[in-house]
Amino acid sequence: MEIFLDTVNVSEVSLYRDFIDGVTTNPSMIVKSGLVDYKASIKKICQLVSGPVSVEVISDKYDDMLEEGKQITKIHNNICVKLPCTFDGLQVCKKLSSSGVSTNLTLCFSPAQALLAAKCGATYVSPFVGRLDDIGHDGMSLVEEIIDIFEVHGYETRVLVASVRNLQHVIQAAMLGAGAITVPSQILKQCFDHPLTIKGLENFTKDWKKRK
Ligand code: G3P
Repeated sequence: MEIFLDTVNVSEVSLYRDFIDGVTTNPSMIVKSGLVDYKASIKKICQLVSGPVSVEVISDKYDDMLEEGKQITKIHNNICVKLPCTFDGLQVCKKLSSSGVSTNLTLCFSPAQALLAAKCGATYVSPFVGRLDDIGHDGMSLVEEIIDIFEVHGYETRVLVASVRNLQHVIQAAMLGAGAITVPSQILKQCFDHPLTIKGLENFTKDWKKRK
């Protein structure tokens, strides 16, 4: 399973680069980060990781979206163009995918959207599990359904579990065989931080110091 860091923060990418295969970003996190020249940060991130770096288009109409997607790919070879699972987004996906551009179909909330993303040649489709859980649905059931559909029909589109809220999402994604997951840095930290590991290490160190 590919692990992506869901961030636009260069220091976080640098800190965790040994654990991650790529990075995903979205417009909200770019605004929140307060970055003036976000494209420069994206470029630095692309130099730090060897895998895909997803950057999302802001436009919502086919022509603008397509042009924006093409511009985004110029940042670096590793760019994966992130497009919404909408009528226009899916068509742009078809167009870009057919010319070899890597695509990530985002804001996926139903198996039918994922099916169309696969039909349009998407490299990744991103079901937002946390946002579904937030409204009382089961985000991981959507992941399971999409994986089943892709397996039955032999689609190569990879399921990228997004909107991850907790460690359980990571474990379930891995158990279900998701192709990829994107995690915020605090969840990635939880993947290696365990209180019993820390306590155990403290005890080993304490005992070692007592040796004669
Ligand atoms: O990058 C997309 C996604 O991971 C957003 O997560 O927490 O805003 O639902 P969230």
